[in-house]
Amino acid sequence: MKTMDKRVERINTAAEFVKEKLGNRKPAAGIVLGSGLGKLAEKIKNPVTIPYKTIPGFPVSTAIGHKGNYIAGELGGKFVIAMQGRIHYYEGYDMETVTLPIRVMKVLGIRYLFVSNAAGGINFDFSVGDLMIIRDHINMLPNPLVGPNMDDFGPRFPDMTNPYDPKIISLAKKIAKKDGIELREGVYIAGTGPSYETKAEWHFFRTIGADAVGMSTVPEVIVARHSGIPVFGMSVITNAAKSSLDPDYKNDGDDVIKAANAAADKMSGLFAEIIESL
Ligand code: HPA
Repeated sequence: MKTMDKRVERINTAAEFVKEKLGNRKPAAGIVLGSGLGKLAEKIKNPVTIPYKTIPGFPVSTAIGHKGNYIAGELGGKFVIAMQGRIHYYEGYDMETVTLPIRVMKVLGIRYLFVSNAAGGINFDFSVGDLMIIRDHINMLPNPLVGPNMDDFGPRFPDMTNPYDPKIISLAKKIAKKDGIELREGVYIAGTGPSYETKAEWHFFRTIGADAVGMSTVPEVIVARHSGIPVFGMSVITNAAKSSLDPDYKNDGDDVIKAANAAADKMSGLFAEIIESL
């Protein structure tokens, strides 16, 4: 008899625990809330809060601006499950742990994944507070699929030519236009952090085609796409590329959280409307 993959066992055990808390209701979409964007959770009606620390096999998120809960309830007329706080590689967790909450949501039955993050502007046209649809990404973090393939979740060599669903992107643009919300669109590059980029790295990232930089999201997207889940991603630009050229400019985590908080309402409304239209 084939022995059970320990990683799959860990996912299934956590999923069973969460499923029971949800009264066996199946979420239509999963949402990952980035730094300072946890406010979206307040829009979720009749919420069930499940702290990560109560879930078997889960770590406790420690990043600033992040709480560590699943929050399930109604958004845009659908039953959704949101991650109020994600697990970051820079906190010292391995990629199996970083992506565990995504795989658990896959087992719970999500049909879409929405990801969000706070990101640094690389594109000179971007300003603080801008919302950027993630059209594509460049991964400079370890790939979470390294290791024996989990055949029950997806193929050994998953396609990555369209990680962000073009249909949902069109829908988002249509809704934003109707609501008079200006959206940027671009390429997100993910590094390990936790140190912010040097000026030379900003220049390098711009040169290779990135528009925004951050320390998350891409591992979650890769794991979701491995399982065939359509993904929509959005970055809030929390520090602008131009200011990074000022000799006195310093990158500051508190400023990042403040800018993200200010943009959270706009992004929350947009996510809710997109989910409603799916
Ligand atoms: N770099 C990396 N991650 C970030 C930044 C940045 O400038 N701003 C918010 N998250």
